Amino acid sequence: MHNRFYVTTPIYYVNAEPHIGHLYTTVLADFLTRFYRLRGYDAFFLTGTDEHGDKIARAAAERGREPQEYADRISAVFRETWRDIGIGFDDFIRTSEPRHRRVVQAILQRVYDAGDIYFSSYGGHYCVGCERFFTEKEMVDGKCPDHDRPLEFVQEENYFFRMSKYQGWLAEHINTHPDFIRPERYRNEVLSILNNEVLEDLCISRPKTRLQWGIPLPFDERYVTYVWFDALINYISALGFPDDSRFKTYWPAAQHLIAKDIVKPHGIFWPTMLKAAGIEPYRNLNVHGYWKMEDAKMSKSLGNVVGPRDLIARFGNDQIRYFFLREMTFGLDAKFTEEAVINRINYDLANDLGNLVKRSFAMTQKYFAGRVPARSSADDAGRGELAALLKASADEYSAAVERCQFSVGLERLWEFVRALNRYIDERKPWALAKEPGSPALASVMRNLLESIHALAVLLAPVCVDGSAKILAGLGRGDTVVAIDTLFSLDCLADGQAITDPGILYPRIEREETPAVSPEKENKPVNTEQDGLLDIGDFAKVDIRVAKVLTAERIEGSDKLLELRVDSGLDERTIIAGIAQHYEPAYLVGKKILLVANLKPAVLFKRTSNGMLLAAKKDKKDAPVLIEVDDRIPVGARLS
Ligand code: ME8
Ligand code: MG
Repeated sequence: MHNRFYVTTPIYYVNAEPHIGHLYTTVLADFLTRFYRLRGYDAFFLTGTDEHGDKIARAAAERGREPQEYADRISAVFRETWRDIGIGFDDFIRTSEPRHRRVVQAILQRVYDAGDIYFSSYGGHYCVGCERFFTEKEMVDGKCPDHDRPLEFVQEENYFFRMSKYQGWLAEHINTHPDFIRPERYRNEVLSILNNEVLEDLCISRPKTRLQWGIPLPFDERYVTYVWFDALINYISALGFPDDSRFKTYWPAAQHLIAKDIVKPHGIFWPTMLKAAGIEPYRNLNVHGYWKMEDAKMSKSLGNVVGPRDLIARFGNDQIRYFFLREMTFGLDAKFTEEAVINRINYDLANDLGNLVKRSFAMTQKYFAGRVPARSSADDAGRGELAALLKASADEYSAAVERCQFSVGLERLWEFVRALNRYIDERKPWALAKEPGSPALASVMRNLLESIHALAVLLAPVCVDGSAKILAGLGRGDTVVAIDTLFSLDCLADGQAITDPGILYPRIEREETPAVSPEKENKPVNTEQDGLLDIGDFAKVDIRVAKVLTAERIEGSDKLLELRVDSGLDERTIIAGIAQHYEPAYLVGKKILLVANLKPAVLFKRTSNGMLLAAKKDKKDAPVLIEVDDRIPVGARLS
């Protein structure tokens, strides 16, 4: 029996063309599919487009098109975009396809026959943007909080799904399956709705007098199906529910990927719909945060490259995949800036990984005429250390990915990359080469090449192109390896000819920003003669509690640490001059005080978005970090 893995992205609305947010979720799904296949899983990856409903009908009408014709065009843009950038989806479902309509109607009939769909009159506040009714509690000043648009009051007779009936069951299911919805903040979001509100039944129809673009109800031709009830079913219609073997094979292993915008339909509507239809719930709902592009300067310099194709043409496919996975803490928002992309490319890919490969291949060329040196036991101590570190990094990487903590996983793998660079620096092959036929040199170079081989295999799901180039360079282009065999560092053949893969990830040059902006603040702080500060001026300083997510030394700097912190507003990078006094590992998880509204400063080519507070009595004392009591929540402002 195979292990199975079934991953889905949301099916994207066809009222807009693909953008960075869509690309992110789709890249994640592609990465996970490759990750699990590498581990021997039978994996299936579904994406597609969501084509019915008011929003699409209006978008088509605005362009003077028929909805189907319009949906055909935009759906094809999605599909071709993914295909052209190498996204390996196994199926692409469109909700206007007959195979989907059939399943939606079958489910509706099933739930209707079971008595969980009833006819009633209803008045409610409707948001066309969200395609759903809002409860009084969810409205903000009569508006939809997401679209900031007045809600339309709609009164009509409709069909309702008895969602309320499954409220208790769902709460129980989430309580007994702690990772059903993850990460925890979204599980809590859903549980708090289930525990504190009485679920209203879900209106699942639209009268054809108001909307024709939808799937007709099988039991009343005067109505079409509400778009969310229709759309969610894609996850099983694409598998050929109920009879197709694909459904039986993959549905028990279902993992949905979504962003935080659509937690309620996926966390509440969908499991209760499945329950009512007598179908097992999905295994996990994995919810990520939003990429924020609000920084005006950045969006200007990114110009028109926010489309997936342009983005990849500009920075490279592996580069964007790596950035996505490494930069965003899964579950939290992250900033998408050109600066951040370039930093990841230059430091992690060009420097750490690229240099490692370049140096190792060049030295093999120079000292061994481009052939894998025969194994020698001269540096078995080094080999043992590398093998142990590889195993530890790879295991932690895999475990983190299985928990959807992609950034943590890659960080672990990069510990191995950095250890390999250190290994070169410490063993100094160029010094060993002074002794002709040095067994130590052969041993060191063999250990390096074996390690790079292992790394290339492990990285294949992320760095698709780079990994293939490295493996081809090692003469292992067509070899399928089981992960477990990598850890022995004994996969390559003595004397195998290697070929230079070239520069994998070129550095990206950009204009330098001075470390400290030369122009001073336009308005001087208003101090009185006595040197005292006006309370109003103090109030301008936004000091808040933030939590340290990751901490790393900055290569080439003794003093600086790069910290990722959750400020409660966002996730951001700050550079702190405390490296001589604090170990990075000590800081992770600590709550600190952050000055959150400082102008960004560039230090060692990284942008610091704020400052942490530390104190010292005398100028020459070591700074002591101000740590905050754990009971004070992240985001709390000093006042
Ligand atoms: O909601 N950052 O479709 P949609 C990260 N059709 N991800 C983002 C993002 C951002 N800034 N913006 C969008 C729909 N996304 C429905 C789904 S499923 C049965 C029906 C991604 O086109 C993220 O995956 O509005 C989000 O959940 C999705 O696009 C919403 O896509
Ligand atoms: Mg949306």
